[in-house]
Amino acid sequence: MTKAQNRRVELSALTMEQKATLLSGRDIWSTHAIEDAGVRAVRLSDGPHGLRVQEEGGDHVGMQPSLPATCFPPAVALGSSWDPDIAEKVGEALGWEARSAGVDIVLGPGVNIKRSPLCGRNFEYLAEDPLLAGVLGTAYVNGLQSTGVGASVKHFAANNQETDRMRVSAEVDERTLREIYFPAFERVVTHAQPATVMCAYNRINGVYSSENRWLLTDVLRGEWGFRGAVVSDWGAVHDPVAAVRAGLDLEMPATGGRSVQQLMQAVEAGELDEADLNRSVERVLALAEHGGGAPGSVDHDGHHRLAREAAAASVVLLMNESALPLAADTRVAVIGEFARTPRFQGGGSSHVNPTRVDSFLEALAEHTASAVEFAPGFRLDEIGDEDSLRDEAVELARASEVALVFAGLSEAEESEGFDRVTIDLPAAQIELIRAVSAVAPKVVVVLSHGGLVSLEGWHDEVDAIVDGFLLGQAGGSAIADILYGVVNPSGKLAETIPLRIEDTPAFGNFPGEQGHVVYGERLHVGYRFYSTRGVPVRYPFGHGLSYTSFRARDFEVVSTGDDEARVRLVIENIGDRDGAHVVQIYVDSSGRGEVQRPARELRAFTKVHVRAGGSVEVELVLDRRAFAYWDVELSDWVVTPGEYRVILGRDALTIEAEGAVALVGDRIIRELTLRSTLQEWYEHPIVGPALLETLQSELLAAVVQPQALRMLGSLPMQKIANILGLSIPGGALDSLMAMTLTQEVPAGSSTRPRKLLRH
Ligand code: BGC
Repeated sequence: MTKAQNRRVELSALTMEQKATLLSGRDIWSTHAIEDAGVRAVRLSDGPHGLRVQEEGGDHVGMQPSLPATCFPPAVALGSSWDPDIAEKVGEALGWEARSAGVDIVLGPGVNIKRSPLCGRNFEYLAEDPLLAGVLGTAYVNGLQSTGVGASVKHFAANNQETDRMRVSAEVDERTLREIYFPAFERVVTHAQPATVMCAYNRINGVYSSENRWLLTDVLRGEWGFRGAVVSDWGAVHDPVAAVRAGLDLEMPATGGRSVQQLMQAVEAGELDEADLNRSVERVLALAEHGGGAPGSVDHDGHHRLAREAAAASVVLLMNESALPLAADTRVAVIGEFARTPRFQGGGSSHVNPTRVDSFLEALAEHTASAVEFAPGFRLDEIGDEDSLRDEAVELARASEVALVFAGLSEAEESEGFDRVTIDLPAAQIELIRAVSAVAPKVVVVLSHGGLVSLEGWHDEVDAIVDGFLLGQAGGSAIADILYGVVNPSGKLAETIPLRIEDTPAFGNFPGEQGHVVYGERLHVGYRFYSTRGVPVRYPFGHGLSYTSFRARDFEVVSTGDDEARVRLVIENIGDRDGAHVVQIYVDSSGRGEVQRPARELRAFTKVHVRAGGSVEVELVLDRRAFAYWDVELSDWVVTPGEYRVILGRDALTIEAEGAVALVGDRIIRELTLRSTLQEWYEHPIVGPALLETLQSELLAAVVQPQALRMLGSLPMQKIANILGLSIPGGALDSLMAMTLTQEVPAGSSTRPRKLLRH
């Protein structure tokens, strides 16, 4: 952020009322100014893929108009770029637009995990994987904040559905939060220090995010070192006093003075510590002091070009049976209303009023001189004579060399505020694709949608499928760039395309019932589920084709000590076009340790640009966290000793090369108590070897024989002691238990500081 424009305001210069006033909005988009004290108002605006600045009044659901701004590709597309450089450039451009509009904080990025394809707001989220979402979110925040404008990473946390979003309780165990739903937030906070974090509407295990002290203070600030302000989602605060106590700083939007009164009364009555209130006031003051950079002018043409570049980098070529790229003189038939009326963004609070919109039909003129024939094929409102629209399209397709069918979901079918109930394309569009495929020599389907759509029922009848998601205002031109080969496709799926909704991991547990949604699939979200359970999918996470071919060689994994590893390889472009390739490194920790581990987890990636016939060397680091799991008993990350498979994946399910790395890992030395089991005592690295000798019991010696131990190993030591009775030398158990606290780890074990596990 820019240097403070204002002098630091002393807390003591503010009355209690002024302080309480600063902790909730003045209106829908700004905080209060306190002119006497030199405190300026902070202006906030959506986000995330373009500005939604409203001049008068406004709303947080995208119903009222907003000023024109560049509509960059929404997160569903940006996530598929797998390209942090692009995300950073988009963030920076947004920052300049925000500065010119006098906006201090842009409400984005959204880094919630795509838990179910049915979530109505998946178009606003980056990925089903926390590393991908975290890396891209971090790059976006770094770009945005380089302009002096602050970010608001949202919606913290476990906001993975729209159904009952303001009340529903996400019932999710801590390990799953730590390994799946937190890491993207954690990375953005630790690598980019966003100015604000936006807390989610929902509850987590019964506690509203806005009142969750563990979430907003212990984890976010205590563990991750967040130094900015926590802002509520719009209307997420139910009890402003509990919220401030938990670590929330700014309630948005205005509450008509109600929250100010409640905060003042609570301090007066001794229910809210004034120190807690002061801490939040300081954070809001810091926001006011950091913002307010001089507005510059915006290069709207340049931003439109960037929107086009980002869109083209995000398109995923799902399938291509020698149909693409098209030549300038290919006789094409353009079919589908989306070619003329592009669907390029989602509905709700992120809805941008674009500076201009490129349709594919218009963009075609840049690529072909021939007259292009168009038939809408269907209507977006699904009213009218579908048969005649289809027949007209079929006639056009019959006379073409390649039929391009633009299919997808209309805005009415998905938005913030509600979830979808199906992943199918509208039936009329499926019929259209099939009818066109029956007559056209070649068929290319181009898809526009926010949440994923099923490809079943028509996939095998077409020659190529281009996934355009929602590509922002320059999407039409970007699609044309891809179809005509001006840009070589390099996007990869950030979300698995399943065969059936019934196969998806949250099926049956989404969107929950009676106020609760159980995250029963735990860590097995997206490809983690499909790879572990062997469930077939249509296209896996990480999948995406190119017009050239890449080959990997010299793949090597070496341990670099301290439970870290380095991966090296060379990527060769063996085709005849320049292109970009995403190197994806997955770790397979299954079978390691005492807890369940998914068979594949993305732990490093990079997008490399390789000239035709050329090659690049790639080196990636796998840090300790790449191998660790969250141990709920230790409340810490633990690396289990042993060998790990490190996989170079073409996608999450296709192995291109693999290696293994042996890690020293952490040895968990348990503190033993009488409630610890016989097995824990016998296998304890310090006590185990001394157990029989110290207790001198023939009965015990018999009980620890393998078969007996299988049967009796789970008995607590207290029960064993009761059975052995007086035959145990007095104080023997106590002295053995004391050893677990005082003795050093035996020779040959890890030299890491030992960890004590208390039962
Ligand atoms: C959304 C946020 C958005 C806010 C302000 C809420 O309904 O959940 O993502 O930033 O409104 O428009």
